[in-house]
Amino acid sequence: MIGASWKTERADAAFQRLMAEKKKFQAIKGTRDLLPPETELWNRVEQMAREVFGTFGFGEIRPPIFEPTELFARAVGGETDIVAKEMYSFEDRPGELPDFKRESYDFVKAVAEATQLYESAQIPQAGLNKVLIPLLALKVEKYSSKYSGPLTAEDAAGIRKLVFDIISGLNHLELGPHLSLRPEATASVCRAYIEHGMHALPQPVKLWYTGPMFRRERPQKGRYRQFYQIGAEVLEMVPPNQDPAKNIGKDAAVDAEVIEMVMAFFARLGLEGVKLEINSIGDRDCRPKYVELLRVELLKVKEKLGPDSQRRIETNPLRVLDSKLESEQAIIAGLPKIADHLCANCAAQYAEVKRQLGMRGVAYAENWRLVRGLDYYMRTTFEITAQGLGSQNAVCGGGRYDGLVELLGGPPTKGIGFAIGEDRLILSLQEAGKGGAATGRDVFVAWMGEKAQAAAISAAQKLRAAGFRVELPPVEQKFGKALGQADKLGARFAVILGDDEIATEQWTVKTLADGSQAKMSEAEFLELLRKSL
Ligand code: HAM
Repeated sequence: MIGASWKTERADAAFQRLMAEKKKFQAIKGTRDLLPPETELWNRVEQMAREVFGTFGFGEIRPPIFEPTELFARAVGGETDIVAKEMYSFEDRPGELPDFKRESYDFVKAVAEATQLYESAQIPQAGLNKVLIPLLALKVEKYSSKYSGPLTAEDAAGIRKLVFDIISGLNHLELGPHLSLRPEATASVCRAYIEHGMHALPQPVKLWYTGPMFRRERPQKGRYRQFYQIGAEVLEMVPPNQDPAKNIGKDAAVDAEVIEMVMAFFARLGLEGVKLEINSIGDRDCRPKYVELLRVELLKVKEKLGPDSQRRIETNPLRVLDSKLESEQAIIAGLPKIADHLCANCAAQYAEVKRQLGMRGVAYAENWRLVRGLDYYMRTTFEITAQGLGSQNAVCGGGRYDGLVELLGGPPTKGIGFAIGEDRLILSLQEAGKGGAATGRDVFVAWMGEKAQAAAISAAQKLRAAGFRVELPPVEQKFGKALGQADKLGARFAVILGDDEIATEQWTVKTLADGSQAKMSEAEFLELLRKSL
């Protein structure tokens, strides 16, 4: 029996260990905490965006973090990696609904309840439910009628099938709208443009945003599942009866100014190794013809391509151009280039974008393989890389998306924009030693004695009101210890307040960098602080 109790004890200890382990919460894979002092750099970057984008006439928009899944599916494209594989989606069912997915055993009651909820619009009345609800009612009716008479073996099989159908139908009911955490924000900005009738504002409407985006990608350096973007969009309704082809020069200038703005922002931050690549991917006229040509050429070399590219010949041949596979590079180099197949309008616009970039002193390289992974682009596309980022070196991506607003139910509208990966931007700044040191405190107020505490509180209040960062220890400390702590916190000055200082109203001020010490009045100290900034 001793053996048995020993075993129980061991099992119990293992259980306790397991429970303790469970309690150790950690940030979810691909997400992370941004902490001080790094967050100061994040704030500095966002503040700079606010300033620079403001000088170009952009206002800030803060769209919600989740939207209907359908919005992203339609805007970004159902076949793209982002929508097909990477979105965090959920059904937003109200808490008070019965859980049909669990309680389907009393299926007759469940169908009656579901019908009632459907009729009172407590569950979505569109989509699958529209078909399922009447079907379920029919099946329950059939089930009830079959049950009334004596059963043959055939009847029993039929009933089993009916029950199976009803339960599986209940499990497929949509109990709330399908929502997704936003994987990007261009779709949201276009949705907001339509929802708020922004086409009635002076055009174009220029909006910028910053915030978290969510994509279920394989995490690595510079690639996260929750990451941050700083983006900007320019939207302009096309007046009725206007021939869009007539505005090629104007569109090109808008494209070039948007690119100039992001380059100016990077220059102001001192980002290093910045390289801008541009391309034109044509429009609804010329791109399909080029894609077809590409497909034909790719089919000729299909056997030499890897499985991903082979699949893309069918789904999206343009994405083959994105391939990084060493073995495919020579083959891709021999494929037809889109620049040779642009229609006259697209070619003219691309040439004008390049001329406009030149006028603005923006250096660029052309990359005919730059196709981007979102479906809404047409004509101008661009990407910017920076140093110190390894394989995930795209710090910004963007392009023109005329027609997207219309696709989402708005008026014919032109659009161009970009999004910067803020995590990558920060990484690159840090790698280049532009992260900024820990900023510490301006003043550490050391005090001893009850009278001194009141004086220290009042001194801290005045210094903080004047905008200085002040550390006020909550309990008195021997001055030696206090000065040690001030040093550790990186304080620039320590004010020492003891009986003597209170009596004479002369503070002892120690400059921590050189250890020098002097007596001075509060006003003199404030003056010294301001000068030392
Ligand atoms: P995107 O190329 O998908 O474009 O993303 C823009 C930038 O976001 C990328 O260049 C990269 O720096 C950053 N990024 C993307 N995914 C991740 C990730 N998993 N972890 C860290 N950073 C990431 C768009 O999102 C478009 N909405 C841009 C746009 C705006 N086009 C027109 N307007």
